[in-house]
Amino acid sequence: MQKIELEVIGIVKRFGSLVANDHVDLSVMRGEVHAVMGENGAGKSTLMSILYGEQAPDAGSIVLRGKEVQYRSTLDAIGHGMGMVHQAFKLFNSLSVWENVVYGHEPARFGFIDRKEAIARVVALAERYRLQVDPIAKVSALSVGVRQRVEILKALYRNARILILDEPTAVLTPQERDGLFDVIRNLTADERTILFVTHKLHEVMAITDRVTVLRNGKVTERMVTSDTTPREIIHAMTGRTVNLTVQKSAAKPGDVVLSVNDLVIRAGGMKPVVDHLSLDVRTGEIVGIAGVAGNGQNELIEALTGLSHPDSGTVTIAGANVTFRDIESHRQAGLAYVPEDRAVTGTAKAASAADNLAMGFQRKAPLARGFLIDRGAVMNHARSLIARFTIKIGGEAVPVATLSGGNLQKVVIARELSHQAPLLIAEQPTRGVDVGAIEFIHGELVRERDRGCAILLVSAELSEILALSDRILVMYEGRVLADIPASEADEEKLGLLMAGRMAEAA
Ligand SMILES: Nc1ncnc2c1ncn2[C@@H]1O[C@H](COP(=O)(O)OP(=O)(O)OP(=O)(O)O)[C@@H](O)[C@H]1O
Ligand SMILES: [Mg+2]
Repeated sequence: MQKIELEVIGIVKRFGSLVANDHVDLSVMRGEVHAVMGENGAGKSTLMSILYGEQAPDAGSIVLRGKEVQYRSTLDAIGHGMGMVHQAFKLFNSLSVWENVVYGHEPARFGFIDRKEAIARVVALAERYRLQVDPIAKVSALSVGVRQRVEILKALYRNARILILDEPTAVLTPQERDGLFDVIRNLTADERTILFVTHKLHEVMAITDRVTVLRNGKVTERMVTSDTTPREIIHAMTGRTVNLTVQKSAAKPGDVVLSVNDLVIRAGGMKPVVDHLSLDVRTGEIVGIAGVAGNGQNELIEALTGLSHPDSGTVTIAGANVTFRDIESHRQAGLAYVPEDRAVTGTAKAASAADNLAMGFQRKAPLARGFLIDRGAVMNHARSLIARFTIKIGGEAVPVATLSGGNLQKVVIARELSHQAPLLIAEQPTRGVDVGAIEFIHGELVRERDRGCAILLVSAELSEILALSDRILVMYEGRVLADIPASEADEEKLGLLMAGRMAEAA
């Protein structure tokens, strides 16, 4: 007999007139992986933050292992065995792994922190769940995937019995995601329970036992994963069917818009991270960059957008040499840019939706008249984008700070797609958005292409690269290892090329 670990009864959470959680009931079995799904703004993160004691519900109760609990803070929730890994990690970058893990619960000896004992405990815990980390490494030196392991260790160190993972795979490479799934399996084998929020249906099918679907704050469906299909889940989330295959005709590439010639970026090391790289992107084509993270993609994009400067080589946008210019000059030359990191680079949290939707384009017609920003035009522009991209927000004057993750991503995409720029560089354009929004954004990218935009796409999702690209460049150790028409590529071939195995892929 499976035991009920957590029961949520009638949780209500309001923000002004908005009901983010509307009498949510949820029951979670001990040792299961329970998916919480729903469209952007459906109320998933709000529910998770209530379960972790970060926010108090307006009504409803939480029952843990048969006992009703009331939290005054996250400390109470942690005391009751709750753990949470946030999307934006909450680690101290200047401290080591072990210091972060034991923080607030340090083993002491003679009134001092017992460093040896602390490290030994962290090592033991890491071994038990096979979470590979170096306990004395500084967090600032770690990759995203390893930082996430540190967050999990921290929760386990506090004896978490229920671990909340809110979109844990959004920032992971496919390899890191497989590693996380192994850890999840080790945890559930030890009767730990996982609440798993994701937009990725294949992950739900692969790792979860049951699914609860939220829509506009209400539970619309409860399903056993093995008895359902992605199509059914999508229908419960959206009330419609979503077409996940991209409809597009053959590309008609024209003139070169982005031209990169013999680019070298050393980034302080001996071996260049971008190594004599050349590429062209033409009007009317989508060029995808595939590669295992860390093969120079980030440095390349930084140099193409003006965020940093290369050591040598040239970058031209629509004929203008912008190689050593700043991001503003790149925009002037015709760049639209969807950055990977929407929260830090992509938006200003305290500013209104209207200002965020204008940012970067505010000095040009139609948002400006002469040197002056036309407030009316900025407001109208925002209103129409909010409607077109179905951004869930109270109005164009509302700050974006309280937007859900996916809605914030839509703000960035809407802004960058709305100005008919000749060149679009899009990094992870659908990260964190729901299936319906993925369908929409993919459609918009193809429309931009057909309007004549030159699009350079970077995505960690091979399926997205394959679905959207007309041509695929595989980056390996700072070079373009292969340049192939998308029609000749599949996941297996790309996988081999990304590993540098040219001969086998041929
Ligand atoms: N502090 C807040 N103040 C006002 N509104 C808020 C606040 N926090 C969340 N909301 C609103 O509550 C709704 C639910 O947001 P929530 O973050 O729970 O959505 P979500 O299901 O996690 O979406 P996503 O998939 O995009 O992450 C959204 O409309 C959001 O704008
Ligand atoms: Mg969320």
